[in-house]
Amino acid sequence: MLDLKPDELLTTTRSVRKRLDFDRPVPRQLIRECLEVAFQAPNGSNMNAWRWVVVDDPKLVAATAEIYNGGLDDFIATLGGATGENYTGAAVPGAERIATSVQHLRDNFHRSPALLVPLLAGRCENLNAFFQASQWGSIIQAVWSFFLALRARGLGSAWTTGHMWREKQLAELLGIPHQQFTQVGLFPIAYTLGTDFAPAYRKPVDEVVGWNQFEAGAP
Ligand SMILES: Cc1cc2nc3c(=O)[nH]c(=O)nc-3n(C[C@H](O)[C@H](O)[C@H](O)COP(=O)(O)O)c2cc1C
Repeated sequence: MLDLKPDELLTTTRSVRKRLDFDRPVPRQLIRECLEVAFQAPNGSNMNAWRWVVVDDPKLVAATAEIYNGGLDDFIATLGGATGENYTGAAVPGAERIATSVQHLRDNFHRSPALLVPLLAGRCENLNAFFQASQWGSIIQAVWSFFLALRARGLGSAWTTGHMWREKQLAELLGIPHQQFTQVGLFPIAYTLGTDFAPAYRKPVDEVVGWNQFEAGAP
């Protein structure tokens, strides 16, 4: 376990892409341990309606990586001219580094020692806001706890949703009943190269928080 104080753990758990160690195997036992920690997160009526798929067969990892890259291509195709300097995220501090980091993961996803695909029970497409909030709120926290548990043990991941453009394809590959479960994302699991990570840019509290009343703030 790394010697990290609670706030250090919370503020330095990054989306790790360039510093994932794609050559070092990750024991299943370690993944089980992180899942056990993650499962302590709150979930609606404590129904534990989630399912989790861990992929560590290299052939399936490679096939999944192909779906991920195809999904990102699908997404990029929807952007039309809104790419590069015109991308909505281009003005974010460090955007250039994010782009090269995303590309690095794309180039190496197939080498991930393992992948995690959390599933929430049901489909969300036609639910009202109450049910959507309840569904996502019943699993996102567990996934983030999984990230924190990884970080505490010298491992890391990157939150990715790119493959969702081809969600059904991944469901078929992994035998997930697509009509009954929604995939939450796709998360590489690997040791990190070094364990020193720093807090990242976020908009300051005063810019995004209203006290007692909504405040629009800067765009
Ligand atoms: C909902 C969501 C979807 C994301 N999808 C992707 C993705 O498909 N590919 C990727 O490389 N990063 C993805 N990211 C990671 C973000 O780009 C990352 O959080 C951002 O670069 C900030 O870095 P940090 O998390 O280390 O602060 C996603 C993050 C979130 C929260």
